[in-house]
Amino acid sequence: MVEILPPSDAAIAAAADLLRAGELVAFATETVYGLGADGGNDAAVARLYAAKGRPRFNPLIAHLPDSDAVWRHGEANPLATALAARFWPGPLTLVMAHRGDGGISPLARAGLETCALRVPASATARALLTAAGRPVVAPSANPSEGISPTRADHVAAGLGDRVALIIDDGPCPIGVESTVVDVTGPAPRLLRPGAITAAMIAETLGVPESSLHGDKGGGAVRAPGMLRRHYAPGKPLRLNAVAPRPGEAYLGWGALPAHDGPAISLSLTADIAEAAANLFAMLHRLDAGAGSAIAVAPIPESGLGAAINDRLRRAAQPRDEMSNDGG
Ligand code: TXA
Ligand code: MG
Repeated sequence: MVEILPPSDAAIAAAADLLRAGELVAFATETVYGLGADGGNDAAVARLYAAKGRPRFNPLIAHLPDSDAVWRHGEANPLATALAARFWPGPLTLVMAHRGDGGISPLARAGLETCALRVPASATARALLTAAGRPVVAPSANPSEGISPTRADHVAAGLGDRVALIIDDGPCPIGVESTVVDVTGPAPRLLRPGAITAAMIAETLGVPESSLHGDKGGGAVRAPGMLRRHYAPGKPLRLNAVAPRPGEAYLGWGALPAHDGPAISLSLTADIAEAAANLFAMLHRLDAGAGSAIAVAPIPESGLGAAINDRLRRAAQPRDEMSNDGG
């Protein structure tokens, strides 16, 4: 059984030693639990891709303890520095031109000339990053395509036999992955919605919110891993279900309708931040319980709702070997 430790100084020192020795360590951030590896160690990064079953063409996010450390690996520009000043540390990832010294290996970047970087807000995560003293690449600590982990026991259940240590820092307060913004071009692009909303980014950069979504036709996919099946439970998911059908488990919003089967509300008080924090844990729970499918209530699109609906749409994608990009 994998070792699970509370975030003491000793546990953080042990985790940092393991990372420097090329081992995999899972740790909490404010968004979801990450599966960490030394970003400059090819063997460790290869082990990380293998542990998740993640295709190597889907690049990883490197985590650093502060902005100064970030600029050693990513090319600063006015867009990046404006967003960093306002939102770091916090649930924002910036895709920048890579300018490294080997700290983030080509394997971790999936061979791209760009890299994704973030400074998490979680005090435990930052203490670990400081102690490790190198970029720590960390995808969500779940098997590829599966539901993201927001508690240590989710990590243990999904990857327990493939991780050296899990630092248990309790449930993740935000509950959905960081917002990803590409700042490599003249115009910023929102690649993945999260707790830092499109409106917050647009306001900070003084651009219209609609411009963050770029051209919707054609064009190369700029975020490998953004368009496909992901975050998925084992059971089929039915979205925008105003009421559950017999035999379904129900993930509701606000007050629950009468239902002869499992039913839980993302937020009884219709609080969108509470719903985001509950999303993955409730999907884990309904997936493990009774019911042949999971029906999900319509969720408003405002604030964190955009991130919740993005994850739900991907989770509802049918299984397709060819479209697995695995996050
Ligand atoms: O909140 C989070 O971001 C969590 C915690 C652990 O920090 N991490 C996380 O990592 O969600 P992951 O690997 O599940 O998602 C990383 C996303 C993927 O969709 C990947 O394709 C994208 O970031 N990405 C990474 N590098 C990129 C790059 N150079 N260009 C475009 N997208 C990139
Ligand atoms: Mg993921």
